[in-house]
Amino acid sequence: MFTIIIKDVTVLSAIGSLLAIIMVIAQRRLSNYGDCKIDINGKRELVIKGGNSLLSSLSDKQIFLPSACGGRGSCAACKCKVISGGGPILPTEKPLLTKAELAAGDIRLACQVKVKSDIKIEIPAGIFNIRRFNATVTEIIDYTYDTKGITFKFADGEKIDFLAGQYVQLETKPYGKVKQGVIRAYSISSKPEINSSLQLIIRYVPEGICTTWVHQHLKLGDTVSLTGPYGDFFLRDTDADIIYVAGGSGKAPIKSMLEHLAVIGCKRKMTYFFGARTTKDLYLTDEMHAFEKVFPSFEYVPVLSHSEQGDGWTGKTGFVMPYFKDAIRDPKNTEAYLCGSPGMINAVTKALIEEGIPKDKIYYDSFG
Ligand SMILES: Cc1cc2nc3c(=O)[nH]c(=O)nc-3n(C[C@H](O)[C@H](O)[C@H](O)COP(=O)(O)OP(=O)(O)OC[C@H]3O[C@@H](n4cnc5c(N)ncnc54)[C@H](O)[C@@H]3O)c2cc1C
Ligand code: FES
Repeated sequence: MFTIIIKDVTVLSAIGSLLAIIMVIAQRRLSNYGDCKIDINGKRELVIKGGNSLLSSLSDKQIFLPSACGGRGSCAACKCKVISGGGPILPTEKPLLTKAELAAGDIRLACQVKVKSDIKIEIPAGIFNIRRFNATVTEIIDYTYDTKGITFKFADGEKIDFLAGQYVQLETKPYGKVKQGVIRAYSISSKPEINSSLQLIIRYVPEGICTTWVHQHLKLGDTVSLTGPYGDFFLRDTDADIIYVAGGSGKAPIKSMLEHLAVIGCKRKMTYFFGARTTKDLYLTDEMHAFEKVFPSFEYVPVLSHSEQGDGWTGKTGFVMPYFKDAIRDPKNTEAYLCGSPGMINAVTKALIEEGIPKDKIYYDSFG
């Protein structure tokens, strides 16, 4: 009886293994799409091995579409026009496409579209300026208990050309149980005038793959790979008044903008609201107040939402929104630059529109 059971188990597991092998072979055959051509803007043709996403096929050829979520289909940054060869729009794309884009049918998420045949796409020419950089960590500053400023120096002779406010995408390395690297977006916090290195301000997110790597594994002298510059969050060259609003690590791109303006000079009226929970979440406060002496009309206004008894805080408390009214003198001639969590961006945008600032003069980078 016992021998029969053993025999049955052996036969079953042999059948199981055989089926698994057949499935692997079938999978390989089915996903062997051979060489495929990617026609870009009708001007450039790439030959790639079919079967991978459009996003990774392009990045293998050093063409980097923005991909702030690292290809997880949640940021919509990788949208591009697919003229032919992209197949039907996938359920994973639909939530991130607007009604107009769904109706047109040619705007797609490059991280979701698989290249299985020749494909024709259109991408903005500016994408060709985005490059990969190898860099070494040369400085790590603990700004708060959960926020670090990290300086990356590029390999000899490498220089980045960016606009204050733009971001780069950092590629992590495997560590601990995380077996694959991921890509995440980080705003550049240093000024564009320094181009052989850059600084990022990175806030720890509990359980976060990249921020755990940065905060617990990255050390001075380590080498990393990053791509950039990306994004359309940058200072507009006008004479309008400016309201900056940032929370947490959202200070990064605003710091870059202010340091840049300090170099080129700026007479615009500017007010900078920084929202934080407690005094423990404040950083670079003296540096930001120092700009009040650099510019003829600049005020730095930190606001604490959870000021604690005995913390010595005498500044503003609550949310930042009630303080906007006093800072805005001519709403139609005011631009706003916002950076932080999606919740903060939504609430602040609504309040600024209520104050009369035109929606098209409110620029933001949402860190969600
Ligand atoms: C354009 C852009 C610029 C950005 N610039 C910066 C910057 O300058 N500094 C900076 O620190 N971050 C910045 N971010 C956010 C950054 O890209 C990552 O999303 C963040 O660091 C978390 O990455 P992670 O891999 O550690 O977490 P993940 O492993 O991606 O996420 C872990 C979990 O935490 C949640 N989560 C993700 N991000 C946050 C968050 N910020 N707060 C709370 N929960 C979160 C996720 O939903 C998930 O459930 C930026 C994002 C964008 C889109
Ligand atoms: S890379 Fe984020 S949605 Fe495609």
